[in-house]
Amino acid sequence: MTSPLHLLQTRLEQGIHIAFGNEVSVPGPLIVPASQAKFGDYQSNICLPLAKTLAQDGSKPPSPRELAHRLVENLQVEDICEPVEIAGPGFLNFRLRTPYLETILRQRLGGDRLGIEPTHPPRRVVVDFSSPNIAKEMHVGHLRSTIIGDCIARILEFQGHGVLRLNHVGDWGTQFGLLIAYLKEVYPDALETADALDLGDLVTFYKQAKQRFDQDPEFQTAARQEVVHLQQGDATSTKAWQLLCDQSRREFEKIYQTLDICLEERGESFYNPFLPAVVADLETLGLLVVDQGAKVVFLEGFTNKDGQPQPLIIQKSDGGYNYATTDLAALRYRINQDGADWLIYVTDVGQSSHFAQVFQVARRAGWLPDSIQVEHIPFGLVLGEGGKRLKTRSGETIRLKDLLGEAVHRAKTDLEERLKSEDRQESPDFINQVAQVIGIGAVKYADLSQNRNSNYVFSYDKMLSLQGNTAPYLIYAYVRVQGITRKGEIDVNDLDLGKLQLRDETELLLGKHLVQLEETLNLVATELLPNRLCQYLFELSQKFNQFYDRCPILAADEPVRTSRLSLAHLTAKTLKLGLSLLGIATVDRM
Ligand code: ARG
Repeated sequence: MTSPLHLLQTRLEQGIHIAFGNEVSVPGPLIVPASQAKFGDYQSNICLPLAKTLAQDGSKPPSPRELAHRLVENLQVEDICEPVEIAGPGFLNFRLRTPYLETILRQRLGGDRLGIEPTHPPRRVVVDFSSPNIAKEMHVGHLRSTIIGDCIARILEFQGHGVLRLNHVGDWGTQFGLLIAYLKEVYPDALETADALDLGDLVTFYKQAKQRFDQDPEFQTAARQEVVHLQQGDATSTKAWQLLCDQSRREFEKIYQTLDICLEERGESFYNPFLPAVVADLETLGLLVVDQGAKVVFLEGFTNKDGQPQPLIIQKSDGGYNYATTDLAALRYRINQDGADWLIYVTDVGQSSHFAQVFQVARRAGWLPDSIQVEHIPFGLVLGEGGKRLKTRSGETIRLKDLLGEAVHRAKTDLEERLKSEDRQESPDFINQVAQVIGIGAVKYADLSQNRNSNYVFSYDKMLSLQGNTAPYLIYAYVRVQGITRKGEIDVNDLDLGKLQLRDETELLLGKHLVQLEETLNLVATELLPNRLCQYLFELSQKFNQFYDRCPILAADEPVRTSRLSLAHLTAKTLKLGLSLLGIATVDRM
């Protein structure tokens, strides 16, 4: 089924061609959701640019209002809309007809996908997200990348695209030289036996090793030597490296499990064999320049402090490769081996110029044809309540495990208090399960509901509140519907959808909102802004609550009762699907 927006778009296009000839080209979006309710449900300003287009042969430009009249005469939308309204200088306002809405709503209730068909043809997309670094703690920046990347992947998967979810783990580089050299001295066991340390120890050892490195020239030599051993594939070093990676991986895995994240690990080390070819090919293409012993590509449009072109270092003077070199190799691999035609990278905004530079070099090398879409999806910082970067009281970076644990713990406390005040008895299993869903859902939603480009303030109190644009508020709307069907002992599969009718004003508003799911998802998939879906679901919950406050459901007489039950059921299905695309689970009672 196509969305009303899409359908109207097609009809408008046809109308324009009938009214003004097949050859007129019409720029930009033909029709968009109305900015205000008084303009109806959708509006089109197309007659304004159209007047300019039609006057291009030098003739006197027709008035947009006149064009609007001609267009409306040739427009066939009676089955979808009330008579189209012409407003102001030539704007068109569309109001959906209630019977049309009712038909769409009945169809939506039919299946799990709510009438939304997969996109044709599907694309092959790589979403590179999460990507923490071995031997370092995963921090809140990685949490944002994980939550946003997973949501984008879920939406594109739902649309039917082939999505490869890649975890570009930082599992290579000088940090291993430091760590191995240091552990050899202080804790050699860790390099030979599995489980000798956990990630916390590893992080501490890494900090100590870094300190040694900065102070002790002899240690520096030893550490560099270790990097060389590792690069040469020395068996002992490789084993030590693997153990270190395993330890970190186990910790990351726990976080992914808590967050219900699916990811394929393909770390930086995976691309090692392909790095020499990147250098060689850039050399053959004549893009590589030797600058102070390093092999670099001079960038266009990036200058240093003195206004000189900035180089992107491809191979350092000691022969080592950089983060950017690996990303160039990865980009080639993803296009050529994985067959991707859309590459998405989810990292903080601090890496924007890194990606712009990598994309530029890849374009100039001819590795990135125009047919391939590449996008860096940046996001802002997570701030503490004081407006500074989120830290513990003692100024340490917060460990994700603790942060998520705290959210669940607080959700549980809130729930227990509520149960007490309502004099309700629930089993520990119930309490734990609800607290888990609410706590984790709240953290994810707090992140996703902000425009990802801005920083946001992390507040447990706000994100766990049952009021406002929060996960608990949305989940509660879902729970309300479950409560109704439970109380009325309704089998939702038996509802006679033929009875669905929008009578009350609140029903109409809810119905109109329900049919906008598909166009909202299309918008999110284009802009890659999950907050639009959050906003949609928040408004849906509000409209449902207004309907619920005004319209009795179980107490109503037939056929109104069944009609309202169907509307409530469709709301619940839409909420559940929408939340699942955000990576958020639901509960039936809370
Ligand atoms: N490991 C990097 C970091 O922690 C993120 C990697 C992002 N992906 C990429 N292809 N560069 O900052």
